[in-house]
Amino acid sequence: MANINRREAIAALSAAGLLGSCNRKQAGSHQMSNQGFHDVHSFSRPDKVRVRHVALDLTASFGDRKLSGTADLSIERRNGDTGSPLILDTRDLTIHHAESSSDGSGFQPVKWALGSRDAILGSALTIHLPENAKVVRIVYEASPRASGLQWLEPSQTADKKQPYLYSQNESIHARSWIPIQDSPGVRVTYNAHIHSPESLTALMSADHKGSEQGVHRFSMELPIPPYLIALAIGGIRFSPTGPRTGVYAEPSILKKAAWEFSDMEKLVEAVEKLYGPYRWGRYDLLILPPSFPFGGMENPRLTFATPTVIAGDKSLVGLVSHELAHSWSGNLVTNATWSDFWLNEGFATYIEGRIQEAVYGREQALMEQVLARRQLDHDLETFDKRDQILHIDLEGRDPDDGTTDVPYVKGALFLRQIEQTFGRDRFDAYLKRYFDHFAFQSITTSTMLDYMLHQLFDKQPDLAARIPVHEWVSEPGLPASAPRTVSDRLEAVERAARDWAAGKTKASALPSKNWSTQEWLEFLQVLPSPLATPQMKELDGQFHLTRSGNDEILDQWLKMTVAANYRPAYPQLKSFLMTVGRMKMIKPLYAELMKTPEGAQFARDVFAKARPGYHPIAQTAVDKIVKPA
Ligand code: BES
Ligand code: ZN
Repeated sequence: MANINRREAIAALSAAGLLGSCNRKQAGSHQMSNQGFHDVHSFSRPDKVRVRHVALDLTASFGDRKLSGTADLSIERRNGDTGSPLILDTRDLTIHHAESSSDGSGFQPVKWALGSRDAILGSALTIHLPENAKVVRIVYEASPRASGLQWLEPSQTADKKQPYLYSQNESIHARSWIPIQDSPGVRVTYNAHIHSPESLTALMSADHKGSEQGVHRFSMELPIPPYLIALAIGGIRFSPTGPRTGVYAEPSILKKAAWEFSDMEKLVEAVEKLYGPYRWGRYDLLILPPSFPFGGMENPRLTFATPTVIAGDKSLVGLVSHELAHSWSGNLVTNATWSDFWLNEGFATYIEGRIQEAVYGREQALMEQVLARRQLDHDLETFDKRDQILHIDLEGRDPDDGTTDVPYVKGALFLRQIEQTFGRDRFDAYLKRYFDHFAFQSITTSTMLDYMLHQLFDKQPDLAARIPVHEWVSEPGLPASAPRTVSDRLEAVERAARDWAAGKTKASALPSKNWSTQEWLEFLQVLPSPLATPQMKELDGQFHLTRSGNDEILDQWLKMTVAANYRPAYPQLKSFLMTVGRMKMIKPLYAELMKTPEGAQFARDVFAKARPGYHPIAQTAVDKIVKPA
């Protein structure tokens, strides 16, 4: 029975194109793992000519929002290739010049051509090279509107004193400021010289080698995919939280941030205990200005994070646990293509839960999982079937479209089922081996599954038979056997919410004194929507939600104020939309506003003012929601 089931699983995976013949033969070996796949989101041909190292020399000019300079790419011809051109990804770059060298000096001009601009992929830069070329130098500049950069006026920062620049490369925005093989299947080491105004601090996802007179030197000696190259420049200071961890932020929020994340050293130790040593040296956190379009970004050695997670009570540290988890899943073992994105995010979300449990206790982890599951269920009710599949087909689409709760929460549930089926000890040991085995490689879903079949499922086929792998990976929705998480604390909150909504208790009698962020979110989310104005008033009067200093709670409350057309909150709603650029928070607010004519007018007015302050990615995302009348 178990054997039949295994054969069926393999047949099903092969049918879905998830087990290539090379993978079958190479079972358990990683030699083929970074070949034999094609990335539809890159023009490059790393199977012919592959970039191994990137040396940047860039100047950030804040007056005209220009990042310009040179990229020296060290290349290697592959599979006996002799004459193929080097094809790079670019988006809105101005290329001034290209030259090559066979030894890193003595550069000679080479012929290059920039292809037509694809709306999603940008333009291919094709460089014709002599056979013995080893280094290619490109002299270029990025557009002031580069999709992967945000230039901020001092007024958009916490301290309002200095301008700020930061990058956000994932998924395919590295190409908007570096001409590169912008595929997660390509790994490069890099170093950089960054020239910036002397009063500013420059940081990268790399080892900081030193700064002299406005020139900052960086080096990343471990091979990483281009989406992990990162840069930030601004009035930034540092506060240590432990021997190898610390927080960077603007001076006015540094103390608060350092307190909020004072457990960082413990977080790192917790993952190390599970999956082996942290391999990147330091782990620091950079708190960005509020327009940062994401919650966090796992740039190696230096996670980028939104200030909206500074809640004052450490209740949103889960975000740091998540980004830290990527130091294993994502940065060490990387999705080879964006269809395999769930390998990065599903694993990171699973590990995030394990870290939270280890450091803050099981109940905290469970509460976070219950809230995440509600989000997923909502997605599954509203999304196209094709977007509910872990191994998603993104051909012809922007990979940023794949960043839904499906790869995160469904992916984590899949792993949690395996953990519960095989037991923690076995699964922990298995994952540790997985990270060691594929360390510093980019792998596909099929390579991961192949390894799992051989290293885990084959050892206990009776247990493996309980896991509907094909359904998890290649079908929409959730398997009926998906694990369910229950949180006693949230269930108590839910009962209280229902009693209050039914008029059985007054807001003043709610047992909310020690509610954490998660309990507040649960309370607000399970209430009927929209609430009647007197109920909105009662809650606001009792708990001052419109003035909440916790952005996660405020965001949830503001969504409810729009649904209920609760006008007293609108000034706060406006100022929130004017300062916060985190897409997860602002997109639902705009979407809710667009449901009524008056709301839509309000949305258009506010967006017209807020838009210039949003990140280019957020501008485009909100453009799709807030349409002109
Ligand atoms: N890697 C992602 C952020 C990302 C994904 C940026 C795809 C661009 C494209 C990061 O690890 C992440 O998942 N951030 C989450 C927070 C996390 C706690 C779920 C976010 O930004 O909301
Ligand atoms: Zn993530």
